[in-house]
Amino acid sequence: MDREFAYTDADFNKVRSELRALAGINLADSKVSLVYSRLAPRVRKLGLKAIKQYLTYLETHPDEQEHFINALTTNLTSFFREPHHFDLLNEFIQSGERCERVWCAASSTGEEPYSIAMTLVKAFGQFDISSRVIASDIDSNVLNKASLGIYPLDKVDPIENKKNFFLRGKGPNKGQARVVPQLRHLIEFRQVNLLDTQYPIQEGLDVIFCRNVMIYFDKETQVQILEKLLQKLRPGGLYIAGHSENFNHLGHLITPVGRTAYRKV
Ligand SMILES: C[S@@+](CC[C@H](N)C(=O)[O-])C[C@H]1O[C@@H](n2cnc3c(N)ncnc32)[C@H](O)[C@@H]1O
Repeated sequence: MDREFAYTDADFNKVRSELRALAGINLADSKVSLVYSRLAPRVRKLGLKAIKQYLTYLETHPDEQEHFINALTTNLTSFFREPHHFDLLNEFIQSGERCERVWCAASSTGEEPYSIAMTLVKAFGQFDISSRVIASDIDSNVLNKASLGIYPLDKVDPIENKKNFFLRGKGPNKGQARVVPQLRHLIEFRQVNLLDTQYPIQEGLDVIFCRNVMIYFDKETQVQILEKLLQKLRPGGLYIAGHSENFNHLGHLITPVGRTAYRKV
């Protein structure tokens, strides 16, 4: 295959092991071309000639790790993705459970934490609530986007009561919508690597959303991360996983309460 930059199987394997060490992410054999297409713009920007040269640059410039991780994460998300989880959150609140602190632990470009915040506002019937959402991700680019809270109209259009939560852009911002400040104010964005030994989050959380990120980690890492996350959750708190992340075998830690949703034992 004709490529702008030299790229070998050995380079791909090195990228894989670096990414696993830095972010816990396991790349399948099939991701050879994807890795190249994600790294090529960075190699071009740095004026380098080959992926191997880039890997040496990465080794000698620790600041580059952030760009490397940002380039290789998969950030697919959407508002109210897997909607049953937001129904469950609403039921949790309606049943009188305390829901003051929610952590969205792989928040990508923000659609998920804003969906959580909208659910809180709807459940409590007002913006003026004491509940707060902490939204975190390893990828600093997506966190910046999330913090801005600006989305194309077609992403926002399907949202129920969207007029309460978004302002339509005018003039040069036509075709976009911005989250209203009262909603934005309920969320704090932070960079957290789930691989870290300690999370900078206070214990006693009521709900954790950690969806569609565990799939990138091996089984052993998944259990280690789950145990660390659960240390931050209060007993009886909700732990919400992604649609293909099943922890039914960890009954001593969490009890299933719905589709890939659990309560801490
Ligand atoms: C596919 S998205 C899922 C987004 C959202 N949770 C959802 O379900 O729609 C996976 C996210 O996990 C983040 N991620 C990957 N590895 C991570 C790590 N080690 N620590 C924290 N976040 C990570 C990625 O940057 C990406 O934004």
